[in-house]
Amino acid sequence: MSTWWLHPSLTVTNDQLYFDGHSLRELARQHGTPLYVYSRATIQRQLGLLQSALAELPVASKIYYAMKSNRHPGVLAAVRQVPDVGIDACSPREVSLAREHGFSAPEISFNAGMLSNRDLAFVAESGIHITLDSFSALRRYGELVPRHTPVGLRFNPGINVGYSPDTRFNYSNDKFGFEAAEVEQALQTAQSAGLVVDSVHMHVGWGVQASMAGQVGQAFERLAAVARQIPTLRAVNVGGGLGGQYQADDSPLSLAAWRELLLRHLSPLGATLLCEPGTFVSRPAGVLLVEVNTVEERRGVHWLGVDAGFAINPLPALYGIPLKIVPLHRPLAEPAQTYRVVGHINEVTDVWAAACPLPAVAEGDLLAFLPVGAYSASMGSDHCLRGQAKEIVI
Ligand SMILES: Cc1ncc(COP(=O)(O)O)c(C=O)c1O
Repeated sequence: MSTWWLHPSLTVTNDQLYFDGHSLRELARQHGTPLYVYSRATIQRQLGLLQSALAELPVASKIYYAMKSNRHPGVLAAVRQVPDVGIDACSPREVSLAREHGFSAPEISFNAGMLSNRDLAFVAESGIHITLDSFSALRRYGELVPRHTPVGLRFNPGINVGYSPDTRFNYSNDKFGFEAAEVEQALQTAQSAGLVVDSVHMHVGWGVQASMAGQVGQAFERLAAVARQIPTLRAVNVGGGLGGQYQADDSPLSLAAWRELLLRHLSPLGATLLCEPGTFVSRPAGVLLVEVNTVEERRGVHWLGVDAGFAINPLPALYGIPLKIVPLHRPLAEPAQTYRVVGHINEVTDVWAAACPLPAVAEGDLLAFLPVGAYSASMGSDHCLRGQAKEIVI
């Protein structure tokens, strides 16, 4: 059986699943379910891999961790321990949380669209660098800050790249960013507003796969062409998009291939390269433990109900992202039955996996859902008043 989901922190010994040496069964017994377990070592390892890849480029670089992917205090503390990593924030409360975790204003980068005057005033007062993506925001921000305040401009890649052809995963023609053809107009608007454009930004899409390297290169080339038109340019920000492995068949764009694309298309600009990884850093660092409460055959389907629904992790229901489901009693056993794994929320969309091959599972068994470190707990709601899962960092 494929064990693509195992990694240096997530291991199987004597038929038991361990996370950084902790038995996940034991953690579920101690803390109850549903339980998110996050690995500090994984967060730091992933950041280290990224830093090493960037260090091979002939230009300066900096990572801003996208805290929207996982803002658990223990995760932010783990990020904070890695030297020279900042925070990518997309709301005033994210900025405040970053500040509470010791990140200074220059270590925080703000990037979001459709900003209110309240949002803009908060950023202006905080003295944080902001990247804007509308003429409206440029005009309104200019009224709030001293003349010559630097800002970034976000551009739309105009190229469909993402986890799958589903348009929910790519950022082409979506609500974010100026068109590349609008660069002159955006520069003029910034200048009239008293702002200085010091950087350009592009987030090509989420979960970019290796097969899309050519399109990512094209998007980077478009960004480089925009950057060359900006005389006051100091930095180029390439957003996130790395780390999209959610099933055996996925083949995410590798770090080495990404670095080659940066080297070829963007480092010749000589500007500092910035990135905002969320998924790459936090995705493999999280496991969700749940308990099976119902095993029953109904209308030809083997239903498997668990004590957690999409309110604690909306990603599978919202975007159809596949989950790897591992029974803690037999983590590597061959499948014996195909189950429909569902949660306890009163919505038909509360399906964790529509047809999941598993060894025989009984009521009371524990399951691990993974990888769920990114955009899982952070996107939770309180629908049906089921509350949130307990989260711990090991
Ligand atoms: C502007 C921006 N930067 C960074 C990220 C993080 O992306 P990822 O999780 O693919 O690394 C996102 C995700 O939506 C984003 O919108």
